[in-house]
Amino acid sequence: MNRRTFLATLGAAATLPAFSAEATAKKAPAQNQAAFVQPPTAQIVGGDALAICWRTATPSAGTVRWTQDPDLPRDRWPRARRVVDGLVASNRPDHLVTLRGVDFAKPLRFEVESVATTMDPWWTRFGERSAGGIVTVPALIRPDGALTFAVLNDLHANTALIPKLLAIPAVAAAKPAFVALNGDCAGNVPGPEGLRKALLGPMADLTAQGIPLLFARGNHEYRGVMARRLREAFAPYAGTDAYHAAFDLGPLSLLILDSGEDKVDSHREYCGLLECEALIAQEGAWAQALVRSPAWRTGKKRLALCHIPPTNGDPRSDAKHGPTRLRQHLAPALAEGKIDLLLAAHDHRASHLPPAPGRPYPTLIGGGPKESSATVTLIAATPTTLTATTYALDGSNPLPTLSLTPKTA
Ligand SMILES: [Fe+2]
Repeated sequence: MNRRTFLATLGAAATLPAFSAEATAKKAPAQNQAAFVQPPTAQIVGGDALAICWRTATPSAGTVRWTQDPDLPRDRWPRARRVVDGLVASNRPDHLVTLRGVDFAKPLRFEVESVATTMDPWWTRFGERSAGGIVTVPALIRPDGALTFAVLNDLHANTALIPKLLAIPAVAAAKPAFVALNGDCAGNVPGPEGLRKALLGPMADLTAQGIPLLFARGNHEYRGVMARRLREAFAPYAGTDAYHAAFDLGPLSLLILDSGEDKVDSHREYCGLLECEALIAQEGAWAQALVRSPAWRTGKKRLALCHIPPTNGDPRSDAKHGPTRLRQHLAPALAEGKIDLLLAAHDHRASHLPPAPGRPYPTLIGGGPKESSATVTLIAATPTTLTATTYALDGSNPLPTLSLTPKTA
């Protein structure tokens, strides 16, 4: 997407029927009130769902026009809006619209639109309309059924690492279809501007290049003022309305887990405002039911992402409860689920754990936020193979490349 085209395109967009009902509403003085302060990020939130998130300078209503038909003219693209309890989301600066029915084996084009709103109980004034420029997301799944993506973790707001890691020649040559963020990528979760600088800006840059993201929540995504507004930036997963999910994507069955905080709910840092214990217990029950379901047993190659490795043995007395909780609630489902590979993070030191009694799958743990410890892991899956290769910033391989034979139900 051309950055210049991201600015308001009032003249072209004003004739679109997306807000036809608004044509009868009063017009506010022409100002670019809905100008974008956060370009769109595209986030995979299901096997056929893509969430588009952006932010405007002033309260506005948001729409996404999108299509997977290469021949459909722009003015006939269907629209998607966010509707909550019968009301179209509007009069707010944060916009998050989920596209459903996406076929990730086909390219997708979308464009966000916003129109400034001033709302009172009996009337809504619509201001200037802005369109974000057309973004093209290539097919994630290749014609031969293959899927390749990159995994980053524990960036802790060191955004400079993102382009560097993705520019490693072997990674760039693989053309990863998307980037999975396996937790703690923003460090803590500061206010909207801080989060934009720490993470959403670089992710928007990737989206503009046609590379969406996949989000797994880390323990640091429980911290900071935006932690309670995380849904403004990262959509929960379709189907669970939470930050855990399971869905098929090409040759893979993905299991994405929220590994929670690493501290007890009563820790002084949380001032009595954390209830992670119940959340992870519920997630564990969900995961247990999932891996016993017919859909999972007939799954493809099974890949799990979980920020905190259940094997973590953090010696800090206040940080070891999280892994203990995961061993209690999530590890049983991981063991029973015949997963082929667990991708974890959190330790800030890349490591490989081969299968062991009670843990019948290998674990790859990504590196840390410093240039000396940072890693990117390239996942390459075909209908018959699954390979995981981890790269340090200098292009070397700090861990063995895993070539895995999928397990059968
Ligand atoms: Fe962590």
